[in-house]
Amino acid sequence: MKKLKSYYLLIIVIVILVSLPSCSKSSTDSSSLYTPTSADVTSNATLPELQQGRTLYINNCGKCHGLYSPDSYSSTEWKSIMNNMAPNTGMSASEILLVTKYVTRGN
Ligand code: HEC
Repeated sequence: MKKLKSYYLLIIVIVILVSLPSCSKSSTDSSSLYTPTSADVTSNATLPELQQGRTLYINNCGKCHGLYSPDSYSSTEWKSIMNNMAPNTGMSASEILLVTKYVTRGN
């Protein structure tokens, strides 16, 4: 009986260990996300804003799933995605704006 109990304990520990990384892993390598250059600057976004947005995006948006490529969605789609996803993060309104500028390429 004692042996059976420790088996259960072992199984529980394994289940916890296996499920833990699923919320901290990002499947997309951040090196595949574009690095802003002066060519990406628009009337809506300066180079420092795009660079900060990239860093904030990497640090805040890959906790539950991989980092989606900015090219995967239109800027209209990104704006509604940001409305849905930003509350999942602890970002301030100004940080959310920077991430939005990055993923929409300043559009
Ligand atoms: C607390 C966990 C969590 C965080 C943090 C998070 N997301 Fe998500 N995200 C989800 C879940 C769960 C889904 C899938 C279900 C859904 O679409 O609501 C998802 C889906 C997505 C999708 C796919 C939407 C679609 O329609 O295909 C995108 C793009 C996305 N997230 C972007 C982001 C961005 C950008 C951030 C940072 C601002 C972010 N996520 C932060 C949990 C999270």
